[in-house]
Amino acid sequence: MTETLHLCVIPGDGVGQEVVPVAVAVLQAVLPEVQLSFAEAGWETFQRTGTALPEATMSAARQAGVVLFGAVASPSHPVAGYRSPIVALRRELDVFANLRPSRSWPLPDARRDIDLLIVRENTECLYVGRERLEGEVAIAERVISRRGSERVARVAFQLAMQRDRRLTIVHKANILRISDGLWRESCLAVAREFPDVQTDEGLVDSVAYHLVRQPGRYRVLLTPNLYGDILSDLAAALAGGLGMAPSLSLGERCAIAEPVHGAAPDIAGRGLANPLGAILSVALLLRHVWQRGDLADAIERAVEQVLARGVLTPDIAPATQETVGTHAMGQAVLAALGA
Ligand code: NAI
Ligand code: MG
Repeated sequence: MTETLHLCVIPGDGVGQEVVPVAVAVLQAVLPEVQLSFAEAGWETFQRTGTALPEATMSAARQAGVVLFGAVASPSHPVAGYRSPIVALRRELDVFANLRPSRSWPLPDARRDIDLLIVRENTECLYVGRERLEGEVAIAERVISRRGSERVARVAFQLAMQRDRRLTIVHKANILRISDGLWRESCLAVAREFPDVQTDEGLVDSVAYHLVRQPGRYRVLLTPNLYGDILSDLAAALAGGLGMAPSLSLGERCAIAEPVHGAAPDIAGRGLANPLGAILSVALLLRHVWQRGDLADAIERAVEQVLARGVLTPDIAPATQETVGTHAMGQAVLAALGA
């Protein structure tokens, strides 16, 4: 069984350019046979070429089926012709389930009691981008479909089977009775296919509250797009910080591994960015796409060892401690891997 493993690498903007090469080096150390292609996307690409997601990038991504994405810088004001390439790429590859694990790392500022997986619907909700102005009133449409809800729920319940068989459906169906009502009902229908999973539900605001008070009470949170976006940043903050947080977007045929963080313009270009979010995203690829849980475990153990030794980038270090940069952190992980 020697299936060729292809990966399309898209570093993007800002610190994406710095952390992705480090994550690629770690991947090559554990899986030297992986076939890489490189492609461009983002704000810098838009300014140079007039498009943020060139057709060549799209076809390289489609061809590989598996993408490692850094980050892109998207302006918060409307720019004619610009749309976020990562949102478009997720939609184009139909990667509908976004996995965002958070676990406590041995860090001075991290909570000790987190081992949580957020499974976030990745294609619908307010992120369909249907906004319009009617005079002085802005209206955004929120789309929730039964099919979209059920397919992400199925992924979440399958993963819950490996995580103590506990899952919480997150919604706000007490207010959004029709949209979150359909989400809740669809997820509960899938729950009936998984009688071994202990399923409960929580209102998103209450889940946020309990997540801060007692994060250990959750193992898998199944959320619509917007709630998952917000709750996963919260979980990342508790577990060690945005620089540490990995994610994987999964579809029927395609996958995108990407750190949760953005382009971090405040530190970009200085070699200070934490590459562990990107490295841990590669571990998710190995575990969930390439069925190499052994290599994923090895990477996560290496990261744990490095942190326990006090090798820290500035974002995860106490102010008084000496820190390392992106490159040195990558070297430390490679050394811990014995590479
Ligand atoms: P951000 O994640 O880029 O930065 C937030 C804070 O976390 C900053 O203080 C930054 O220095 C720090 N940080 C982020 N990644 C880090 C790393 N690897 N190591 C150390 N510190 C790190 O989010 P922000 O500031 O809201 O957005 C900046 C730009 O990134 C915007 O243009 C935004 O649109 C874009 N963005 C892109 C995302 C993506 O491509 N998936 C996700 C989030 C934001
Ligand atoms: Mg976010």
